[in-house]
Amino acid sequence: MLQQRLSPLQARIDAALDRFLPGAGTAPERLHAAMRYAVLAPGKRIRPVLTYATGEALGVDLALLDAPAAAVELIHAYSLIHDALPAMDDDDLRRGRPTCHREFDEATAILAGDALQALAFGVLLDASTAPLGADTRLEMVRTLADASGSAGMAGGQALDLAAVGHKLTLEELENVHKHKTGALIRASVRLGFLAGGAHDDALGERLERYATCIGLAFQVQDDILDVEGETAVIGKPQGSDAGLDKPTYPDLLGMAGAKETARALCDEAVTCLAPLGDAAGTLALIAEYIVKRDR
Ligand code: IPE
Ligand code: IPE
Ligand code: MG
Ligand code: MG
Ligand code: MG
Repeated sequence: MLQQRLSPLQARIDAALDRFLPGAGTAPERLHAAMRYAVLAPGKRIRPVLTYATGEALGVDLALLDAPAAAVELIHAYSLIHDALPAMDDDDLRRGRPTCHREFDEATAILAGDALQALAFGVLLDASTAPLGADTRLEMVRTLADASGSAGMAGGQALDLAAVGHKLTLEELENVHKHKTGALIRASVRLGFLAGGAHDDALGERLERYATCIGLAFQVQDDILDVEGETAVIGKPQGSDAGLDKPTYPDLLGMAGAKETARALCDEAVTCLAPLGDAAGTLALIAEYIVKRDR
């Protein structure tokens, strides 16, 4: 059921990403090859699927969502390249393959991340989004910029690195997770809401709450999988957090407590969708998937 709903959206975003990325034969070839290698690797595509599913719940034509969905995945892919660099988590494996700096080299990986970030904003302004109108497109740029920058993902990564070796309170850890992972997940949902015209403020607030809950649950589950997952399944090195002395949810709450937290967040997320009824079916399935996933 879940895979039946997600597969067509995952295939759709893969095609869109392929279209928006520069061809591997276009100069500078090595940089473009690195960008394509990192983005087109088999990720779960949760963020773009959220953008599609939110738009779908509001009756938006999926063709209008290709660019915003791709933009958020491009930012995510850039964040993963930089996250694995020696100066950050120093990981060798990502999506079941050597990390970008291992497959290419550090300088190319840094530049691939830089270029993907710029590409994301360019893609938001692709001609396919013109029917949304200038105000909506500008609001999309603002949403993605806020979610990516020092008040969002990049800020969260700074907090994550600053926390190495320190004991954080639950509130402090929640703040790290809300930024490093939550911000982009909230943006994914908001981009779909904006494409739908953002007419209903109350619904916008409910979707924001939904996204906040699943965003936090997503990183809690990521922390759980760092302990309980298998490298071959998660496609990245199991035990990376413990090796780097990163504070995590299982550290603070114990494994059972972390799992309870993820489950409670998922349940709260689903209740936020009530006014949308059956139209929000895919969004509800994604919330379930986030806490049940093994990769
Ligand atoms: C991994 O994200 C990094 C986090 C924010 C936890 P994903 O688990 O979505 O990674 P991919 O895209 O499926 O590889
Ligand atoms: C990374 O969090 C979050 C971002 C890339 C913004 P993690 O460091 O926990 O992600 P993984 O476990 O390496 O995928
Ligand atoms: Mg990290
Ligand atoms: Mg990491
Ligand atoms: Mg992790």
